[in-house]
Amino acid sequence: MNRKFYIETHGCQMNVHDTEKASHALGGAGYELTADAGEADLVLLNTCMVREKAARKVYTRIGELKRAAGRGGRAPIFGVMGCVAQAEAERIFERCREVRLVVGTQSVARLPDLVGELSRGFPRAIDVRLERGADFYELGAEARQTPHVAFVTITEGCNKFCSFCIVPYTRGRERSRPAGRILLEARALARRGFHEAHLLGQNVNSYGLSGRYRGNSPPPGASPPGDELTFAGLLDLLGRASGLARIKFTTSHPRDFDAEVVEAIDRHENLCEWVHLPAQSGSDRMLRAMRRGYTRRDYLEKIALIKTARKEIAVTGDMIVGFPGETEEDFAETLRLVAETEYDGLYIFKYSPRARTPAAAYAETVAEEVKTERFLRLQELQMRVQKGRYARYLGREVEVLVERVSARSATDYMGHTRSQKVVNFPCTHEYLGKLVKVKIEKVMGHSLYGRMSENGV
Ligand code: SAH
Ligand code: SF4
Ligand code: F3S
Repeated sequence: MNRKFYIETHGCQMNVHDTEKASHALGGAGYELTADAGEADLVLLNTCMVREKAARKVYTRIGELKRAAGRGGRAPIFGVMGCVAQAEAERIFERCREVRLVVGTQSVARLPDLVGELSRGFPRAIDVRLERGADFYELGAEARQTPHVAFVTITEGCNKFCSFCIVPYTRGRERSRPAGRILLEARALARRGFHEAHLLGQNVNSYGLSGRYRGNSPPPGASPPGDELTFAGLLDLLGRASGLARIKFTTSHPRDFDAEVVEAIDRHENLCEWVHLPAQSGSDRMLRAMRRGYTRRDYLEKIALIKTARKEIAVTGDMIVGFPGETEEDFAETLRLVAETEYDGLYIFKYSPRARTPAAAYAETVAEEVKTERFLRLQELQMRVQKGRYARYLGREVEVLVERVSARSATDYMGHTRSQKVVNFPCTHEYLGKLVKVKIEKVMGHSLYGRMSENGV
């Protein structure tokens, strides 16, 4: 009988993609995925530590999973992977006796070896090496678990070192994946029937500007000349030659985002009308303290580039409220920036100090109640802005990729538009994974509702 593993994913799309890689590696070693921790021989938690709340969750979650797993009288192996594993390393063993396996962000491919060490009687196994270079693990198109939308890594790590952010410490230095390999992967995905791919990187715009990593084996018929491409060049290549109907990418960084990216989106029909461009703050003083490398004015210039494109491109963003030193005036600048930019969506975070980052040494000046109050004020403004942005869709026909049954009703299905809006609509199973046209009849706070046009596609 096959051994079974259970895996739970927290955090960003990078982690979702790493979970796919982990599942593939374990599958190759004879493990079978189960959705029930109670019957698993191996219980894995893929973790995030971008904010304190996310990091703390790991330990409460292990306790809960231990209780669930214990029900059948089994004693599974508990493992922690992802960003907390990378940053806390051996400390996880000390803090949590149940955990016998710690797998860093760059060691996913070693999972079967590490589990092997445990079955040979070692009490614990750990690999948290960050700079691995040549043996980076790539996933074939056949091994995808995210149905209908495929994640494609284009850069790993980050060199920006924003003063609040833990990611450069958990994902290491930035490396770009050769364009030839990305193209091969994209083509293979298109051949397997994927219509949409998301290019992933902490800062996709610095693609090609920093060190490259190589894959674990040379791809057959690889065409390396693409290697000197910039991000806009990569978009051109994929727009032209991937065969994918929809290409999206996250995250864009305001410092490196440029007109050429907008031109590429305008040039290729399959480059989608969506840019996620986090500002983090609207105040120059805060942007400096955050070490973001751009001013409010620079940011608004990039927004203007996007808004004057031929295509109607949706912009989403992230904002941090309550960064050390943020005054009411700084916050007012953030409110003004949000009103001016007119985001289609905004993720708002209360500042959370992270050990090892430069900002952790700054004295926190904004009380928790003030952070909450600013969070709510910003959210309220964004909801007003968003209402106007969403209202434009009323009566329009949009292209939707049918992704799954809706959470609310068994007869409704859910998918995203090219501009990354959630759309719910009555549909049937055979349309899953297909592109359909939906006429929008109702506008909600964070989603649209509509009906499929008579003949689907
Ligand atoms: N690479 C992306 C962001 C990765 S982290 C970028 O540069 O935009 C995702 C988001 O989490 C960030 O955009 C930021 O808004 C938020 N975040 C990161 N560190 C944080 C912290 N210490 N406290 C609160 N929010 C944080
Ligand atoms: Fe973190 Fe800044 Fe890098 Fe984004 S660009 S991952 S916020 S250090
Ligand atoms: Fe979290 Fe790591 Fe992603 S800290 S946001 S899972 S890169």
